Amino acid sequence: MFDKKILDSIHGQFSPAQANLMYRWAAKVTNGQFVELGTLCGKATYVLSVAAKELKYKPWVITLDTHNLDFVRMKYGRTNTFVEFMNNMQLAKMSNVLPIVGKISDAYINLMRKDKYIGFLFLDASKEYADVKRDFGQFEPHLLGDATVVFHDYDWKTIKKFVDELLADSWKSLEIGKNIIAIKRI
Ligand SMILES: C[S@@+](CC[C@H](N)C(=O)[O-])C[C@H]1O[C@@H](n2cnc3c(N)ncnc32)[C@H](O)[C@@H]1O
Repeated sequence: MFDKKILDSIHGQFSPAQANLMYRWAAKVTNGQFVELGTLCGKATYVLSVAAKELKYKPWVITLDTHNLDFVRMKYGRTNTFVEFMNNMQLAKMSNVLPIVGKISDAYINLMRKDKYIGFLFLDASKEYADVKRDFGQFEPHLLGDATVVFHDYDWKTIKKFVDELLADSWKSLEIGKNIIAIKRI
């Protein structure tokens, strides 16, 4: 189980209740790697790291961020979150985390792999409808059949619109929390 004190010490807007929901679903994963879109300072990454370490098959947590977007500068008052994230990685012993610095749309992590390798995907990057659709579309072909997908900020109109489209198609809701949702393919 993750340590709430460590979670609290990492900057970000990922609440303990959201952490709990994600941790419970991550703990049920049986194959595939964990992928996070939107690292910031590693608050949710920490939760994924603990859940992955506790699984028998020890998946990696791959987390992707430019660490240098203008909106991060404005919203979080940070010029570059990479150094802070690396410090948090060390403090919270996230030894199973592979950080990737770059744009999700570059998706060079997927270019190296043609297979389905993701068992757990957490989307927490841009909140624009078109961006979320693009980000999900980029990684969707690499999801294993029984992969769990978690969207942060499900209360946002843009995220809700996109996720509800998935739910009306071939996805089902596993659990809805405050501003977070876990889904799976039907
Ligand atoms: C809401 S924050 C992530 C919060 C983080 N998951 C946490 O637990 O605190 C969103 C992050 O997504 C990143 N981001 C947004 N759009 C991106 C893109 N197209 N490519 C890579 N990173 C992006 C931003 O740099 C920002 O750090």
